[in-house]
Amino acid sequence: MRAVVYDRYGPPEVLRLEEVERPAPQDDEILVKVHATTVNRTDCGWRKAEPFFVRYFIGWRRPRRRVLGMELAGVVEAVGPAVTEFEVGDEVFGVKGFGAHAEYTCIREQGAVARKPTGMSFDEAAAVCDGALIARSCLRNADLRPGRSILVYGASGSVGTAAVQLARDLGAEVTAVCDTKNVELVRSLGADHVVDYLQQDFTKNGETYDVVFDAVGKHSFRRSRRSLKPGGLFVDTDLGFMWHGPLVVLATRWIGDKKAVLGITKYTKEDVLFLKELIDAGKYRAVIDRRYPLEDVVQATRYVETGQKTGNVVLTVAGGNGTGDAP
Ligand SMILES: NC(=O)c1ccc[n+]([C@@H]2O[C@H](COP(=O)([O-])OP(=O)(O)OC[C@H]3O[C@@H](n4cnc5c(N)ncnc54)[C@H](OP(=O)(O)O)[C@@H]3O)[C@@H](O)[C@H]2O)c1
Repeated sequence: MRAVVYDRYGPPEVLRLEEVERPAPQDDEILVKVHATTVNRTDCGWRKAEPFFVRYFIGWRRPRRRVLGMELAGVVEAVGPAVTEFEVGDEVFGVKGFGAHAEYTCIREQGAVARKPTGMSFDEAAAVCDGALIARSCLRNADLRPGRSILVYGASGSVGTAAVQLARDLGAEVTAVCDTKNVELVRSLGADHVVDYLQQDFTKNGETYDVVFDAVGKHSFRRSRRSLKPGGLFVDTDLGFMWHGPLVVLATRWIGDKKAVLGITKYTKEDVLFLKELIDAGKYRAVIDRRYPLEDVVQATRYVETGQKTGNVVLTVAGGNGTGDAP
């Protein structure tokens, strides 16, 4: 099969398309013919081995797993003997650690995978899991409900567009912060208020929120503190400059009534099933910026690394339904 491989850490150019052996499913795995996958920020982190400590998990000198790719949507091609939930021919979507930048990939039946939402294309289904599961994990303890308010900073990214939709579904009052070009998009996702950061600094407009969620790792507890209500919560997605994030989390445990927390993501089947329900009910949609064919993975990766994508960047694989609108 064709797969994107890499043998050393480095810039997007270390990625190349190669013929490799097709994986065979273990007893509890399904083999998926991948129709679409994505390039996300975590793929880029693995490829660069950044931050440095990730080498502990993925290989000190060189990558132990040659094929990147977390999100996937496709059709079940084969099942292991212990699999009971899926059958050959099922259309599925989900997220895993590695291996989806390929024509076929295996995923554990009990992993973060479910049947594809009805009426959603493969491209769209490939582009929903990572952002939504990160946002859901980060906001799990934010107690979002009617009467509570949240500000989402970086609302136009993969995690941000997900957070706006999930918070709106929970009934919270949502304020989204993004730049001018994305104002209409985030409004269409359900934001009650939008702050265009090119026009206004939300920390200086006098408004306060129960929760401030930095969905893009570009803000900080210190700068957001005055925008939090008493007892408010700052939620970060990132370790922050010089990894100060965990220190701030610890400090706010003991000092003051405004707290900071750092979101830790666990991809679970339960969350994918929750997302599928939301999509089937018309309460959540994919936001896709660009689509590239698998062989253009280097261009796709360069674009993701600009840090300017809106929502998600899809790679179309065998039978993918991309529209070829990449530049
Ligand atoms: N906690 C976890 O387990 C976990 C796992 C993976 C990733 N992450 C983190 O999740 C975060 C978000 O990832 P993502 O994939 O959603 O990012 P992304 O899609 O690459 O974010 C890009 C978006 O952010 C906006 N943006 C860039 N700079 C900004 C700024 N200074 N102020 C406001 N908006 C800005 C961009 O819009 P404009 O530039 O057009 O405004 C663009 O729409 C990252 O911090 C990443 O490290 C966390």
